[in-house]
Amino acid sequence: MSESISQTAKVNLQGNEIELPLIIGTEDEVGIDISSLRSNTGAVTLDVGYKNTGSTTSNITFLDGEKGVLRHRGYAIEELAEKADFLEVAYLLIYGELPTETEFNQWDHDIRRHTLVNEDMENIFKAWPTGSHPMGQLIAMISSLSSFYPESLNPNISEEDRSRTIRRLLAKMPTICSMIHKKRIGHPLIYPQNNLNYVENYLNMTFKHVTEDYELDPVFVSAMNKLLILHADHEQNCSASTVRLVGSSHANLYASISAGVAALWGPLHGGANQKVIEMLEAIKADGGNASKYIEKAKDKDDPFRLMGFGHRVYKNFDPRAKIIKKSADDVLNKLGINDPTLEIAKKLEEAALSDEYFIERKLFPNVDFYSGIIYRAMGFPVEMFTVLFALGRLPGWIAQWKEMMDNRQPIGRPRQIYTGPAIRPYVDLDKR
Ligand code: CMC
Repeated sequence: MSESISQTAKVNLQGNEIELPLIIGTEDEVGIDISSLRSNTGAVTLDVGYKNTGSTTSNITFLDGEKGVLRHRGYAIEELAEKADFLEVAYLLIYGELPTETEFNQWDHDIRRHTLVNEDMENIFKAWPTGSHPMGQLIAMISSLSSFYPESLNPNISEEDRSRTIRRLLAKMPTICSMIHKKRIGHPLIYPQNNLNYVENYLNMTFKHVTEDYELDPVFVSAMNKLLILHADHEQNCSASTVRLVGSSHANLYASISAGVAALWGPLHGGANQKVIEMLEAIKADGGNASKYIEKAKDKDDPFRLMGFGHRVYKNFDPRAKIIKKSADDVLNKLGINDPTLEIAKKLEEAALSDEYFIERKLFPNVDFYSGIIYRAMGFPVEMFTVLFALGRLPGWIAQWKEMMDNRQPIGRPRQIYTGPAIRPYVDLDKR
């Protein structure tokens, strides 16, 4: 990244003028470096929701929301989704370059060798009430890995141990995700099978029955590979920022990622993919009238929002949604599935894109709008959708955590503007 300081910004604060350096990114994005602002003026910046605040420089992902561009380490998402293997993208995100064939074979081998989880992990499952949401379980299961691998607790872990921790987490994630699914439906677990690749292994552990053979469908494998790649990283979003913030206190990798999963769960972030299908089902049950729900979404007195629409950063289109929409059509056609919710989704999209409210606010379908339709066609229950988002996002979180640690970034600790009562005397209980 060319990080040259080419100009400065002048801030005049109550008569005190200071100059602040500009930080220019590879794609000419401009940031004002305010790190000296408080020491020079006593003031801080205020930006609730971080709508204008860059929390870091980063070499991992470039996103231009106005143009609908998403690139990882310089590679366009469209090309990666079309040509790459998910583990190749994971390597690219975490280590900065696409692996050579030798590097990839070693990486793939190491990950296959770490797929089993400690049998004691099964005891944790016994404690969940039937029907617990998979995301709550995923948060706990990932965090529990720190108990099985306590060397991860050491922030000064050797490079070799850190590398093993990263491989372990990537390897065990599909096993944990499929365990959650099997336990929820009361089926016996399917162990990982290391002659299968990452995506195949996950699908096999999820859909194979212990009593029957399971034949992997290449349509599913390819769609799943693509979906995971499309979710792999998205620069400083809510969950990645959470991972970096938690990790900045030198909490271990498992705890940091577990916190990221918690952030992802919310319906405004990754939890939207579950909510989209629930919304489409509700519209279908209500007669399939898309316009009625468009009107509800526009009504400020109605809390209803069009789930899977809008994005903090994309203001033109979400390139991931474009690819997923086409993929949903392909998968359903190849499988000969006629899902009426896909038709409702398309009607809803069409109606929203021609509506002044959505045009004015630049609200477009996001990654979550069509992904659930594919997941459902593959046989995933709707409560597992956000877990699938987490499975895909894992390499991105690891890459963000590793970059933050490698750059020795300070603990994240925002300031605030206090607006509560000024100092006042304590009043005894009987006098209040
Ligand atoms: N339906 C109806 N109105 C909306 C929607 C929506 N989905 N999204 C935003 N708006 C309106 C919002 O009411 C506001 O209107 P006004 O200016 O009149 O007050 C305007 O558009 C700007 O919205 P905002 O909430 O200020 O924008 P934000 O950047 O804070 O929020 C968002 C972004 C994604 C949280 C929001 O668009 C949303 O809630 N979308 C639905 C949930 C969703 O699909 N989330 C998945 C995001 S993509 C996956 C991921 O990476 O997390």
